[in-house]
Order: sequence, then C-alpha cells, then structure tokens
Amino acid sequence: MSRARISIDRDFTISEVPRRLFGSFVEHMGRCVYTGIYEPGHPEADEQGFRKDVLALTRELGATVVRYPGGNFVSGYNWEDGIGPVANRPRRLDGAWHTLETNAFGLHEFVDWSAKAGTEVMEAINLGTRGVDAARQIVEYANHPGGTYLSDLRAANGHKGPFNIKLWCLGNEMDGPWQIGHKTADEYGRLAQEAAKAMRFVDPGIELVACGSSSSGMPTFGAWEQTVLTHAYDEVDYVSLHAYYQEHDGDAASFLASAVDMDYFIESVVATADAVRAKGKHKKHINLSFDEWNVWYQRGLDGEDQPERVSAAGWREHPRVIEDKYNVTDAVVVGTLLNSLLRHGDRVKIANQAQLVNVIAPILAEENGPAWRQSIFHPFARMAELAKGQILRTRVVSDKYATARFGDADLVDVSATWDEERGRMAFFLANRGLAEAADVEVALRGFDAGRITRAEVLTVPEGADRFAANLLGARDTVGLKPLDGVKAAGDELKLTLPALSWAVVELEVATA
Ligand code: AHR
Repeated sequence: MSRARISIDRDFTISEVPRRLFGSFVEHMGRCVYTGIYEPGHPEADEQGFRKDVLALTRELGATVVRYPGGNFVSGYNWEDGIGPVANRPRRLDGAWHTLETNAFGLHEFVDWSAKAGTEVMEAINLGTRGVDAARQIVEYANHPGGTYLSDLRAANGHKGPFNIKLWCLGNEMDGPWQIGHKTADEYGRLAQEAAKAMRFVDPGIELVACGSSSSGMPTFGAWEQTVLTHAYDEVDYVSLHAYYQEHDGDAASFLASAVDMDYFIESVVATADAVRAKGKHKKHINLSFDEWNVWYQRGLDGEDQPERVSAAGWREHPRVIEDKYNVTDAVVVGTLLNSLLRHGDRVKIANQAQLVNVIAPILAEENGPAWRQSIFHPFARMAELAKGQILRTRVVSDKYATARFGDADLVDVSATWDEERGRMAFFLANRGLAEAADVEVALRGFDAGRITRAEVLTVPEGADRFAANLLGARDTVGLKPLDGVKAAGDELKLTLPALSWAVVELEVATA
C-alpha cells in the first residue's frame, strides 16, 4: 500500500474554473464528421442528419466548446465550399488526410449542431493556403448582422441572425513541416497579426488564438512562441499548445506520468509569454489555449479502409483513421492530464480534447450502428460535471515511483475544486501505481466536511487487465463504479484508491 497526504486551504485558490477547459474538437478527418456527428439515413439521425445518439453522448460528456473544422484539414480548406445548397457544394481533395471532401457538412451545419449540443463554437481559419482577406470575410459572413454582401448571403443561406462566433483560431500548427502552407515563425507571426487586425476591424468583440508549437518536442519550441508573440502580442488573446501522449514500448510507468510533461509544457509557455510581455512592456497577459490534447497511439495514419469509398485515383471518403480504442491505463492518464489543465486554470483558459467522435475520441459511433462511451469518456464527463467554482491549490506529499522519462513521479495525482455557492468540494484523484492501492488522507484547512455526495472509481474490471476497453461487442466493460470506504469528518477526508485507478469524490463542506 502506498500513501499520500494532500492539504488544501480555503484561502489558497488558483482561479475560477474556466468552463472552456472542457472543450472538444470536431475535424473533417476520418469519421469524426461523416458517420460520426453527421449521418443522414442513420436510424438515430434527426431532420438535419445529425446523430441524436451522438448528440446525447456529447451533452453527457459535458463538452463546453468545440473547435472546428480542423486541425490540419483547415490549412487547405475554403470555408465558402461548405455554405449554400448542399447539391451545389464542390467535392474537393483534402491533402491533409488524403481524403475526398464532399462538403455536405459545413459552417451552417456546425453552428446548428453546436446549438443542439449546447456547445460554443471555436472556429479555426485557414492561414495555410489563404490569408487576411479570407480571414476577414468569414468573420463578416458569420458575425455581421446584415446589410452587406456576405452577411446577406448568410441570411439567404438560411441564418438571418448572426452566428456571433466569439472564439477564433488563427490557423493550425503552422510550425509543423507537415502543415499545408507551413511557415517560419516570422512569416506566421506577421500573418497572424495582420489577419487578427482585419478580423477585429469587422468584429471588435472576438477572441483570437495564435498558433503556438504543435508539441513541446518541436525543435522550434520556445523560440516559435517568442517570435510569434513578439509580432502579434497586442492583437491576440491566447497562444495554443498541442500535446498527444502514448505508451512507448510497454513503458507504462512513464506513460502514467505524462502529466509531468504537460505541466512542464504549460509552465514553459507561460514563462515565454510573460517574457515577451516584459520585453514589450505590454500590460495584458496572454493566456493559453490547449486546443489539442489526448492519448494517441501514433502508429501511422490508416486503419481499415472501406473499399467502396476509395476512388479509382485512391482518394477516399471519410475512411476509418486513427480510431484508437482506449483502455483503463489511458483513462487514468486522461484523468491526470485533466488534473494538470485544472491546476493551471489561472492561465490555461481553453482546452480541447482531440477529437470528439471516432478519431482519437471519447465517443465511438458505428456507421448505421450504435454509439458508445470509451474508457476516457468517464474522467472527462465527471470533471466537466463536478469541477465548479474555485480551483484549490493542492499540496501533495505522495510516495513516489521511478519513471524512465520523467524521473521520480508522485504515485497519487490530484486536483480539487470548491463551489462556495453550492457548498460542495470535488477531488479528482489518480493512483498511478500499477500494483499497489494508495491510502489517501486529505487535510481540509478552513472547511468542515459534511455528507459525501459522490464517490466513484474507474479501475481494472474484475478478471480483466489494464488493457480492458469498451469495444463494439462489449460496450460497457470499463466504467465508473462506487468507491467504497470514503470517510469524511471535521477537517479530514480519508479514502483508498485501488491500484491503477481514477476516482472522483464530491462532498458537502461548510467553511470552518
Ligand atoms: O487531431 C489530429 C491532428 O493532430 C490534427 O489535425 C492536427 O492539428 C494534429 O497534428
């Protein structure tokens, strides 16, 4: 049995929980849009072709904001291809994923889908093959009330009122040589600055995200952020971060400590942004948009192709790509990544798990078949539901274990929130120990513990191993079950986490 002692204090808060931390991502990639959120003809499709089963799961997941339409896809995308009568929309080659894009789903459909899902739209613009003009035009089309060519075109296409999209990404992963229209930091920084200016001339109320590095492992990481922000500091509000984690060669110990890398990445970008702030004598702070993160087993792009969808020239319509099946270990890692995001909620104000459906996603949906929750769905859904109010600073003294990639790491990982209005506190805990349970004691300074209102755990199901996953034939193998034996009294909370587990404990608290 390992041990951990956690202390929190009602006076030591980090920030209000940014609701946009529980974001997701829909890209025109693989089966995320087509046969994911959109499948006319599916028994669950509504009158617009949106899958109601997937919509229901999206609402249960608790996603607050959804980034669209890419990803790498956006860097070759003409937004105008996705508006107007569907029959008139062009079929195009999408070079990012070597896919045939029908454009049956576009901006209007995504705005309508978002309204049904209860999510905010986060729209990415193409700064790969396009520039300032297309950037300002899409803002006018989406947000101008009317009386101009583009806003009247929107009305003619069925939306009289403006979409009022507040959050915009200035391109995607422009530091990556794989990106269509990849740029140097100076080239991109200047373009982002000018596109931002032109977009704000159309709608001064928008919020803008500049591309940071596509991972902390990029050779240009650090220098890229510094150069881009030096150009665009005054024009943008956020800088983006992307990170994907996976288990390498059976090294579960390091994989389970992935959040150590996420902490490092976030803290490095904060330091860089603040250094540019100091050097440029700027007043405002640039916040962080972690707008792609997840576990992703990067074995190459292709899963099974669907031969009936491959054209003579080898281009495919919404093939199966990177449909990772997530297991118990992945869910524990996702829980710790969410903890890292929450613990940095003073600067990370937006985060999008990539992606929502089928493509490295918490939801799987079979064409003409069912939709279900992957293991990683559960920590996300519970945190989106229960992380409310203030984020509390947590001091953790935990037994440690050795990892090859990140040195010694805490066996127990935690984040905590306190909703003063509802008189509730929530703890999100992970035990990274593969073989040992962990005894956890929490000192609640300034609080008086009351009734436990939720205590649930996700761990290895009986008779299974850490690779257990929810598959088509057995869709509920991995899930949440009650966590027994949680005790709260006075200023103390005690619980035991099973080996390799993620848990949530919510309790009533009064301030002492
Ligand atoms: O989410 C999958 C891909 O990963 C995105 O298109 C890209 O931005 C990133 O490299």
